[in-house]
Amino acid sequence: MKRPVAELVGTGRYTPSKVLTNADLEKMVDTSDEWIRERTGIRERRIAEPHETVAYMSKMAAEQVLEEAGIGPEDIDAIVLGTASPDRLLPATACDLQAILGARNAAAFDIQAACSGFIYGLSVAEGLIASGMAEHVLVVGAERLSTITDYRDRSTCILFGDGAGATLVRRATDGRRGILSGYLKSDGTLAELLYRPGGGGCHPPDEKLLADRSYYIKMAGREVFKSAVKSMADACDRALERAGLTSEDIDLLIPHQANIRIIEATAKHAGVPMEKVYVNIDRYGNTSAASIPIALDECVRCGRIREGSNVLLVAFGGGFTWASMVVRW
Ligand code: ACO
Repeated sequence: MKRPVAELVGTGRYTPSKVLTNADLEKMVDTSDEWIRERTGIRERRIAEPHETVAYMSKMAAEQVLEEAGIGPEDIDAIVLGTASPDRLLPATACDLQAILGARNAAAFDIQAACSGFIYGLSVAEGLIASGMAEHVLVVGAERLSTITDYRDRSTCILFGDGAGATLVRRATDGRRGILSGYLKSDGTLAELLYRPGGGGCHPPDEKLLADRSYYIKMAGREVFKSAVKSMADACDRALERAGLTSEDIDLLIPHQANIRIIEATAKHAGVPMEKVYVNIDRYGNTSAASIPIALDECVRCGRIREGSNVLLVAFGGGFTWASMVVRW
């Protein structure tokens, strides 16, 4: 088995207190609580208030990480922030986070890999440590999807929510705990199955953009569903294979929380029983890059992850992108 180069230490999360329930959505679009629960597993999601920016939520999560890791903001060498809903298009939200966190010695940048952004970020952090560029990398997944969700489109607005989660990646300390394997993959030919057509350089902001609502997320749900099941299965296989482990060695599977049926299909393929799968989609919906780090923090704090636990992370999202990682805690 590979000797880990980097390990995760400390976790944190922040979710807004405002709740949007299925009953609330029934008043906004033609849908029902029963349809949403049966098709997605979601009961409610959190929605950010204006002051709860991506940078703000990230800071709240990051401060918990720093406290647990026993380091100060000035000890951070790099901030890698996965988000598909940045506070501003320029600069990177990671730079805004750097400023409000006081991480004055860090290099800060965003990763745009949609729901796979947190695992992509962990992988980049591992690489920065392996190359000697950094010792302490703050990795954050944070989203304010409510700002890019079309609340007139019932096929997407029932899915998304806001929140942030974070961890610190540092040089491995004992040759046992840490990142045992990782796998990243993309397929840009399928980009238009899940995208925001307007607002960027191809369709700069204009009146048409506001009228056609192309600023918001558009998704071909059924096609995305099929690809998600296939890709997350592939990603589980690859991470296990690269770690030299089998599903029996896995103590906990934390899949990206997009849809309970995708999660169940992924677990079945990976050969991990549902008792060993963490699910919180009922409470938060799909928070894209924030979904895995929020779940990770919940698992650490409630004792589902303990010293020595082998944890399999797997995600899929717009791009398409997919990714997986085996981490020994
Ligand atoms: N309420 C009631 N009916 C609805 C709703 C709704 N909210 N939304 C769609 N429907 C209808 C459709 O119009 C359709 O009706 P029709 O048969 O008369 O045409 C019917 O329900 C079935 O629609 P489907 O899209 O086939 O429903 P499906 O079972 O596929 O569920 C869903 C839709 C939940 C979106 C699912 O496809 C899904 O979860 N897709 C994957 C999402 C995902 O994984 N995204 C990845 C990451 S997101 C990111 O990267 C930001």
